[in-house]
Amino acid sequence: MKILGIETSCDETAAALIQAEGEKIKVITSVISSQVDIHRKFGGIVPEVAAREHLKNILPIIDQALGRNKWSDVDYIAVTSGPGLVTSLLVGVETAKTLSLVLKIPLLSINHIEAHVYANWLSGRIKLPALSLVVSGGHTQLILINNQGHYKIIGQTLDDAIGECFDKVAKILNVGYPGGPAIEKLARSGDSKKINFPRPLINQLNYNFSFSGLKTSVLYFTRSVPNKGFLKPDICASFQQAAVDVLVAKTVRATNEHKVKTVMLAGGVAANQKLRTTLKNQLKKQSPKTSFMVPDFPLCTDNALMIAIAGYFKAKKGLTTPWQQLTADPNWQLS
Ligand code: KG4
Ligand code: ZN
Repeated sequence: MKILGIETSCDETAAALIQAEGEKIKVITSVISSQVDIHRKFGGIVPEVAAREHLKNILPIIDQALGRNKWSDVDYIAVTSGPGLVTSLLVGVETAKTLSLVLKIPLLSINHIEAHVYANWLSGRIKLPALSLVVSGGHTQLILINNQGHYKIIGQTLDDAIGECFDKVAKILNVGYPGGPAIEKLARSGDSKKINFPRPLINQLNYNFSFSGLKTSVLYFTRSVPNKGFLKPDICASFQQAAVDVLVAKTVRATNEHKVKTVMLAGGVAANQKLRTTLKNQLKKQSPKTSFMVPDFPLCTDNALMIAIAGYFKAKKGLTTPWQQLTADPNWQLS
């Protein structure tokens, strides 16, 4: 079957087409239009600007993703309907509903976080039970997956999401936008042991996270040093190390406690090389029988391919939504 995926939950307008049968998923196209350059001058995403850009881009992006394929070849349309910015979500949702009404193509309503996790399914079957560490601009969650399509959130951030924390620290240090990749780049030439930033909740025997105190520590430290320019790489490296230490410690502990067969990294911060390699190495040491999966770099940040893949597994279960019932849900929690 062929599935068209549509994603507009934040500041990327994306569409993708896949062909899938049994365990095989073939990528036909994946098109992403990023608004990073537009939001850079504001230092963050401006929801109304994002929605206007989505409106401008959505039809050309879908047209490009469809390529030479005909609408009559598309079996399902999968669209992100939450969580995300409501004004952004509405553009994708209303576009998908219109296409469904006019072209009589069934709709699949996709949870953005579930889709980030599904990005891992492109590399093949995942052995369950699995644990996913979802790290994005809006979420930091440890999710247990005992059966495909069923999720149990065993821990999450009590305040800032980790991506949001990278973005805010980048703003404090004035090192560029978006913050995550800018910090990672500077951190490469810094000393991660130079500043001993706190590792919030690392010793608490639960799976919750808290990153706002870490961000504030970076702010106070930065204010306390006069000529901080030359220290920026060390601050970035030390901050990144503190964040990675907490994420990895909790994930490895949950892996062993729940005896999972697979650990999957997911979301925009999964593009961080330090996090990818530290988690991989620690799992190898402390839980050698567990497989570790992480999507290729372009599949970590927002894209429509993961929406189409999540759609495929919903389509197989017949979980379609009539266009009359599809709504954007900015706070959709996985369950
Ligand atoms: O999943 P995503 O593209 O959008 C949301 O669903 O939120 O994640 C975006 C977040 C941003 O906070 C961005 O700074 C962060 O992912 N990010 C990174 C890296 N690349 C993107 N954080 C750390 N290191 C990176 N290399
Ligand atoms: Zn995302």
